[in-house]
Amino acid sequence: MTDRSLEVHRLRDGARLAAPIDEAAPRVDSSAWLEWFRHNRSRTSASVPASITVPPELRDALVHALQVFHLGEAGEGRVAKETACSDDPVLDAALVECVELYVREEGRHARELLVLLRALGADPLRRTPAEKLFRWTRRAIGLRQKMLTIVVAEIVGLVFYELLNERVPHAAIADTAARIAADEKAHLDFQAALFRSILAHPSVPFPRAYAAAVAFVFAAVLTGAVATVAIDQRRLLRALGCSPVELARRCVAEVAARFPLDDRGATYAERVRVESSLEVAASELTFLEPAARPSDPTSRDRRRQATEPNETRNGASDEACAARDAARITRPRRAA
Ligand SMILES: [Fe+2]
Ligand SMILES: [Fe+2]
Repeated sequence: MTDRSLEVHRLRDGARLAAPIDEAAPRVDSSAWLEWFRHNRSRTSASVPASITVPPELRDALVHALQVFHLGEAGEGRVAKETACSDDPVLDAALVECVELYVREEGRHARELLVLLRALGADPLRRTPAEKLFRWTRRAIGLRQKMLTIVVAEIVGLVFYELLNERVPHAAIADTAARIAADEKAHLDFQAALFRSILAHPSVPFPRAYAAAVAFVFAAVLTGAVATVAIDQRRLLRALGCSPVELARRCVAEVAARFPLDDRGATYAERVRVESSLEVAASELTFLEPAARPSDPTSRDRRRQATEPNETRNGASDEACAARDAARITRPRRAA
């Protein structure tokens, strides 16, 4: 069986998708995650020029996609309040603050997408009746179920931003997408750790049955979400050379990478420490080559600059790629 078919098999098989129940399983490391989310508050946004030009065959489809994802990013504010008021035994004070900071990051994503829309000469969408109905339905369900639907949105969003980063021929759009995708990866890892903690909690009487039910609902909601995106964003996906099958496979790969679930809070906290050490080391070395290294274009920038018009070049892409390269150095390893 190939790796790819194994991923699909995992999605179809609820028992495999669900986390193995282990009484000794580590619970979510709330203090480590809180350290990460507090650190990530200072994550900078890409600098975007006032006007962006992309190929005409891409522009309208890209604007439509950014408008839809902007609406999604802007709508999670109530979850933080509900978490703060929740009596869910899994939640402690640190986790409540984590969710608050998590939701603020979604607000940052919405602002960053709005900047891109304005630069493309477009306005954000107003909420449609169907979107309002979906939001009302989600408010009517419990916090855990709501988190599950947010995880699905995170997976689809992560794949979308990674596609923009890889295939849109504009540095500012690619940089913005890369920064948002990095946040979404951490969000997914956090959610995976949280669900592991829920599944291992003594308040869940039949954990294996609960896990199988969660996996079944999750797979159904994810299938619906992928189909919706494949239809609604078909023009953009075609322009970016991504087939519906590739979209589905990439979503499955993000799920498979996180199951069996593990707690990566400590890993992210370690990344905070590594980045702090790098900052200290960099500040000590500035006397050697003042302000030279941070603005050196990376090889990726050089590639882009060689094929892009001057208006798409800006100093921010150097800074963004340098930040991305630093993040790559300390990126937590995937679970086996
Ligand atoms: Fe987001
Ligand atoms: Fe997110």
